[in-house]
Amino acid sequence: MKIREIFDTMDYGPAPESADEALAWIKQHGGQFGHYINGAFTKPGKGFDSANPATGVRLAGITEATQKDVDSAVSAARKAQPGWAGLGGPGRARFMYALARLLQKHARLFSVLETLDNGKPIRESRDLDIPLAQRHFYYHAGMAQIMDEALPGREALGVCGQIVPWNFPLLMLAWKIAPALATGNTVVLKPAEYTSLTALLFADICSQAGLPPGVVNIVTGDGTVGEMIVASEVDKIAFTGSTEVGRQIRRATAGSGKALTLELGGKSPYIVFDDADIDSAIEGLVDAIWFNQGQVCCAGSRLLLHEPIAEDFLTRLKARMAKLRLGDPLDKCIDVGAIVDPVQLERIREMVEGAGGSCFQPDLALPAQGCFYPPTLITGLAPSDPLMQEEIFGPVLVSCTFRTPDEAVALANNTRYGLAATVWSENVNLCLDIAPKLAAGVVWVNATNLFDAAAGFGGVRESGFGREGGWEGLSAYTRPVGKSAKLAPIKAHGGAGAAADPVDRTAKMYIGGKQARPDSGYSIAVHGPKGQLLGHVGQGSRKDIRNAVEAARGAGGWARSTGHLRAQILYYTAENLSARSDEFANRLNAMSGARTGRKEVDAAIDRLFTFAAWADKVDGQARGVPIRGVALAMREPVGVIGALCPDEAPLLGAVTIMGAALAMGNRVVLAAPKVSPLALTDFYQVLDTSDVPAGCVNIVTGTHADLAGPLAKHLDVDAVWSFSSSDLSGAIEAESALNLKRTWVNNGQTRDWYAQDSREWLDQATEVKTVWIPYGE
Ligand code: NAI
Repeated sequence: MKIREIFDTMDYGPAPESADEALAWIKQHGGQFGHYINGAFTKPGKGFDSANPATGVRLAGITEATQKDVDSAVSAARKAQPGWAGLGGPGRARFMYALARLLQKHARLFSVLETLDNGKPIRESRDLDIPLAQRHFYYHAGMAQIMDEALPGREALGVCGQIVPWNFPLLMLAWKIAPALATGNTVVLKPAEYTSLTALLFADICSQAGLPPGVVNIVTGDGTVGEMIVASEVDKIAFTGSTEVGRQIRRATAGSGKALTLELGGKSPYIVFDDADIDSAIEGLVDAIWFNQGQVCCAGSRLLLHEPIAEDFLTRLKARMAKLRLGDPLDKCIDVGAIVDPVQLERIREMVEGAGGSCFQPDLALPAQGCFYPPTLITGLAPSDPLMQEEIFGPVLVSCTFRTPDEAVALANNTRYGLAATVWSENVNLCLDIAPKLAAGVVWVNATNLFDAAAGFGGVRESGFGREGGWEGLSAYTRPVGKSAKLAPIKAHGGAGAAADPVDRTAKMYIGGKQARPDSGYSIAVHGPKGQLLGHVGQGSRKDIRNAVEAARGAGGWARSTGHLRAQILYYTAENLSARSDEFANRLNAMSGARTGRKEVDAAIDRLFTFAAWADKVDGQARGVPIRGVALAMREPVGVIGALCPDEAPLLGAVTIMGAALAMGNRVVLAAPKVSPLALTDFYQVLDTSDVPAGCVNIVTGTHADLAGPLAKHLDVDAVWSFSSSDLSGAIEAESALNLKRTWVNNGQTRDWYAQDSREWLDQATEVKTVWIPYGE
């Protein structure tokens, strides 16, 4: 194009970035890569090619890991871990700082390589992926430095298996590796098969930084290699990818005791009210859905438009879409690059073809070769349409309208996902009224797709669990210091003795604030250690669980009540338990045959006071982020928690579970301790007299093995906790995969019920929602 023609059209001229350096780096490695294990590259083996999706040209050969490779990576990591943790926070910080510096020094090489391998515009890899990866290492170098002081009593998990996707290859690697190393873990990471190159360049950098061998290990390959890592002797799996694979990993790790965090898919709403700054909202939308060709887990892929502005907004949006520049990702003027692989391109085509509604694609010239798909807008779909529900993972926006803020929230939450949401309105009152109502782990107000190492990122519902970034992301790579012991099996007492008291006392269940008979019509006898009959409890079943969950779901007002009110009610509960402490102590002694009832009741009263005290003190935080604004880390209740109560401390255990959950605004369905259920069935009278709203606490009796399955499978239960002395952890975790509810299980280990460990309980009872708001200059 001549200068004169440029002046005539006022079009952008091409501004290509050179690929020479990146190609030279590949050549230096002979165009074939092995794995990076124990501080060195292995000899390349059988594998597959990595190609540039914009041209189809082969870039390099990648080795598919064998079981032996995975085993040797895991054992290198295992061997290196004590030494790495033993360096102490400041010792590790030095290496992490060096990694950050090296990432910065080779920033352009990383950006070009990422764009070549993934197809994303160089503008994005250069201005976002690589700087954010550096920021992650700098931030976590700082975390390592101050960790001993800031996270006392926590230690590394050990070896972490990490599996990342292809949409942000280096950035996802940084999100996984930086917090793991900062806290003293060592890692075995697998990049996605389409995009292994920047992970291998990162391996080079680890060697340059002099990182001790075995601290970082990179193995390449497809999902089969991922499965091998999941099955290997690691202490944690951290996964980012599709919800389906996340579910498989949940099942595969069930009962193994491995920690797990899952960052999965989304169908995030992008809500625009009629008083929004429309032009800004449209620019935001370009970032929300055409950034990285829409291959973003938190892409604002569902546009919800306030009806009064819908027509105008869509007209302006179409005009903007026609101006997007699509083409060679290495050209610095390009907005939309290539789709990562022909497989993904085909997947997008299939989903859009035959879709209902009306489909708009601007008249953009697509390059003759390579994986390109035009920016697409589909309007006029019903909320239930598969395209409104399923993740497309491409540059395809679907849209519908709403009339009222309530309708916007209902539509936004009408999805099985819960990763992110965006709200645009010049009325900040409205935005901040909507933000807490959205089922999402991240909410952006008048902005979109903002990320930072200091701000937690992650989802609720089927978008997975766990956070990356911030304190919450860091602590997910640690555990409390100290070892727990194996839980000895505890058996119910048998017997044939008569009741000491001739007045029959059949303890009922407690559902929705009322006493309830078991649906089964069966009862179980409860005996003392000498065989004496102490009473009967109902044989609970799936239907009782269903009723209890319905009641808990109906008590949603509790989640919106103030911490002050919840504190008052918990204090009152403690007061009422105290008034009947003799009766409870005697009951505990009768069931156990020990004389520890008094001690346990006193501890239970104290526990209620403690959680009452915490109820209005678990503050959120305002995180300083290097972007105009702050990221609020708000603690929200998890929702409906189903819990199997422990037998070791039947009253104290149940009260601890209930106290922590209620203090944070959750509702609970408690499966009473199986050996000493009467400790809890007596408790409903305390609840009744303490103003605990109906449905907040529900108590079901019966065999834990009968109750665990219905709780773990129930789609309206958000979390299951198990402290049962029956070995149910594996079954619960496997069944929780259905809706990816959170689980917290004992894996057959005891805990010290008398310990002062409120923080852990309060963390388990809350989710962090990150709300990005404009603030300051
Ligand atoms: P995927 O979930 O299959 O791949 C992600 C990573 O998991 C890759 O490293 C892959 O090798 C590995 N993997 C695959 N199967 C595995 C298994 N059974 N066990 C352990 N690791 C396994 O995603 P894929 O197939 O590349 O893309 C399919 C769809 O997934 C996309 O169209 C998109 O909807 C969604 N996706 C979502 C992502 C997100 O960030 N939420 C990222 C990538 C894909």
